[in-house]
Amino acid sequence: MKVLVVGSGGREHALVWCLARCPSVTSVMAAPGNVGMADDGELKQVAVDDLDGLASLAREEAVDLVVVGPELPLTLGLADRIRGVGIPCFGPGAEGARLEGSKVWAKDLMSRAGIPTSAYQTFTDSGRALAYLEEGEGPIVVKASGLAAGKGSIVCSDRQEAKEIVRAIMEERRFGEAGESVVIEEKLEGEEASILALTDGRNLLPLVPSQDHKPVGAGDTGLNTGGMGAYAPAPVITDEVMEKVDTRVMRPLLDTFSREGIDYRGVIYAGLMIDAEGDPWVIEFNCRFGDPESQVVLPLVEGDLAQALLDAANGNLDPEALSIGRGSAVCVVLASGGYPDAYEKGFPIRGLEKCAGREDLIVFHAGTAEREGEIVTAGGRVLGVAALGEDIAAAVDRAYDGLAAITFEGIYYRPDIAWRALERGPEN
Ligand code: AMP
Ligand code: GLY
Repeated sequence: MKVLVVGSGGREHALVWCLARCPSVTSVMAAPGNVGMADDGELKQVAVDDLDGLASLAREEAVDLVVVGPELPLTLGLADRIRGVGIPCFGPGAEGARLEGSKVWAKDLMSRAGIPTSAYQTFTDSGRALAYLEEGEGPIVVKASGLAAGKGSIVCSDRQEAKEIVRAIMEERRFGEAGESVVIEEKLEGEEASILALTDGRNLLPLVPSQDHKPVGAGDTGLNTGGMGAYAPAPVITDEVMEKVDTRVMRPLLDTFSREGIDYRGVIYAGLMIDAEGDPWVIEFNCRFGDPESQVVLPLVEGDLAQALLDAANGNLDPEALSIGRGSAVCVVLASGGYPDAYEKGFPIRGLEKCAGREDLIVFHAGTAEREGEIVTAGGRVLGVAALGEDIAAAVDRAYDGLAAITFEGIYYRPDIAWRALERGPEN
């Protein structure tokens, strides 16, 4: 089959890398893609929010499957548009994508479905939100309802800080229109994990659980980012926890979709907090693969991923179609100095050739570009160096050994990716 992947980040590079290795795949295209994907796919210069352009491209190239990476085109209705021209698309339509596009909608849906999540209130008026914060004390989380590139949720240590954040989001519009409404919710305690599950709306195929590292600094300090690294499997998700996620989170979500007539074909990304009793609480849902979780989850998939995505898109996903490979994967993000605040771009990246041609060390490109034959930095998160190993410790060593060969001006990465798993020791 011919597959078109929409997007240009590390997640999409991981998708292209995995899909190109599937027996069912004859060729892969990426729109707009990035220079790192060119080894495995053909790049087409169409932007992710150009719905007409992408639908025309899919038709002209007679692709058999479109896989949508980022949330923006999904919330804009790209999957509906692609299905409208008769091509199977892996990704929910605009209605289902509200799961990520509107935190207010998602929270209300969780409440209707009885899915465990923190107690919350939603506000469209800053005066009411500020008045609400006058009552009670202690830590609280303020979230802009709309899309804010992973930066719209702020965990506040006290009510004063929460009030300042409400003003910044609702009055000063720090995140633009995303701040028209806010969710104010209780802070959950525990350990976080991400579960990505493929679905055709009825059947569910969970991939290996993983853990992201959102804060920019070592020891989970500093500002939240899009994600500084990830590893899988995440030992916090034991088989018992996974069972609870299935019965308390995923099934009620799918049942609610079907009751409410939402045809959801794509990934359900559950961002979870696992409490001291091993009970899962949903922090958020996303309507797409995680980034950088995909860079560790997808290389561990055994089986024909493309066929499973096509089957999900066609409404007949076999829940047993893929299995989770043995071993572990770790991805360390190499970022531009200054990220997630302002940073400079355009610095040449050296040493990539030293990591090329290996199946146990894969350099996924995110913010890179080609300039006069050279690969240069072009974003905050520049590369994700992913390594496979027999266990987390081996994968960590391989990732850090590998990335030592890569240099660019201002390079920054966290030195402690997977610290929680390593702290648990080899027996987890
Ligand atoms: P979100 O934008 O909802 O993914 O949140 C970003 C990050 O903020 C999460 O990965 C958590 O680390 C943190 N966070 C969000 N909501 C909560 C909550 N209710 N309790 C504790 N931490 C949270
Ligand atoms: N890694 C967080 C996300 O993909 O939203």
